Amino acid sequence: MRILPLSEENIRLAAEALRAGHLVAFPTETVYGLGADAFNVSALAKVFAAKGRPRFDPLIIHIARPRDLEQVADLSALDRESREKTRALGLGLWPGPLTLILPKRPEVPDLATSGLPSVAVRLPDHPAAQRLILLSTGAVAAPSANPFGYLSPTRAEHVRDQLGEAAAFILDGGRTRVGVESTVLDLCSGPPRILRPGGSSRERIEGIIGPVEFPAQGTAPSAAPGRPLSPGQLKGHYAPRTALSLHSREEIIDLADNPLEGFLFFDGPSRETWFQRAGQFREGQGLPGESRIRTLSEGGNMTEAAANLFDLLHRLDRLGLCRIRAEKVPETGLGAAVNDRLRRAAAGSNPEQAGPGA
Ligand code: TXA
Ligand code: MG
Repeated sequence: MRILPLSEENIRLAAEALRAGHLVAFPTETVYGLGADAFNVSALAKVFAAKGRPRFDPLIIHIARPRDLEQVADLSALDRESREKTRALGLGLWPGPLTLILPKRPEVPDLATSGLPSVAVRLPDHPAAQRLILLSTGAVAAPSANPFGYLSPTRAEHVRDQLGEAAAFILDGGRTRVGVESTVLDLCSGPPRILRPGGSSRERIEGIIGPVEFPAQGTAPSAAPGRPLSPGQLKGHYAPRTALSLHSREEIIDLADNPLEGFLFFDGPSRETWFQRAGQFREGQGLPGESRIRTLSEGGNMTEAAANLFDLLHRLDRLGLCRIRAEKVPETGLGAAVNDRLRRAAAGSNPEQAGPGA
């Protein structure tokens, strides 16, 4: 696999590879995706194989222009209200980190949607991703470019380290801007429902279409008991290899330090309070190499915290620690997505601590 800097020539090369049925990893504003031509079944099969992803977990189809939505989704199968909400969200939040679940067109291979009657679609807010999609077939199926269940990639190096030789090319767009995956919003059945909190906050979505259903903390909405409605929203997702425990601010500032543990604080004040109480260890001490004490956003800015989340977890995960202790962040705005990923990381890294939900 070759890492290519972003240039028109390299994007063309990558688009040709997609058209020839190969996989290409590319940056979006959220995380890196592992792309395949959405209409090529054998390319889609390669995506599932490369990620070790179960076939019941459907893919998001990425488009480059709003008018391409109807190539994959059948808006006429929606009731009028849902159709209007779809249009309003497309106008208001696309391009952007919002994935819409809509009735599928028969042309979309069942493998992409895991046999569901619905399809997940989004228009990423990244010029290189848009160009790549446009120069290929206009519809690129792309899950996050990480092995199934592991931390999502926010840098080209994460993809290279995790997915070995799976992709023909990795387009290197540097660090992704948003840092958490798109919000998945179901518009197919009943009132709009968030299946996965992500880069478009509930508040922004509700500002456009009014109230949406939101999963209770730590749970995924269920279509039937024991079956998550968004098939990929499993409890143990987004997990580092190192065990991770999630703590409230009150808890984490009272924890004793341990040189074999990593700490991930929300903001500077929280870390400083802990330093004062825990005493002896200072940032960078205790272990050679990278610091095991990290902060999502010094000033408590949630956009910055979300952008740093996976990168800092990747770094902490490389240190060979016994445990990572992470602080829950305020639940508002992108905080819902950050806490969702942290809760799933905790559940995936030590199943005995898993809370309720799927
Ligand atoms: O930000 C993102 O969304 C990134 C970038 C690459 O675009 N992609 C991403 O894809 O996170 P992935 O495959 O890691 O997550 C897709 C999620 C899964 O939870 C999957 O179950 C859900 O979307 N999904 C896909 N199709 C669905 C459908 N028809 N109904 C319900 N959920 C669906
Ligand atoms: Mg993923």
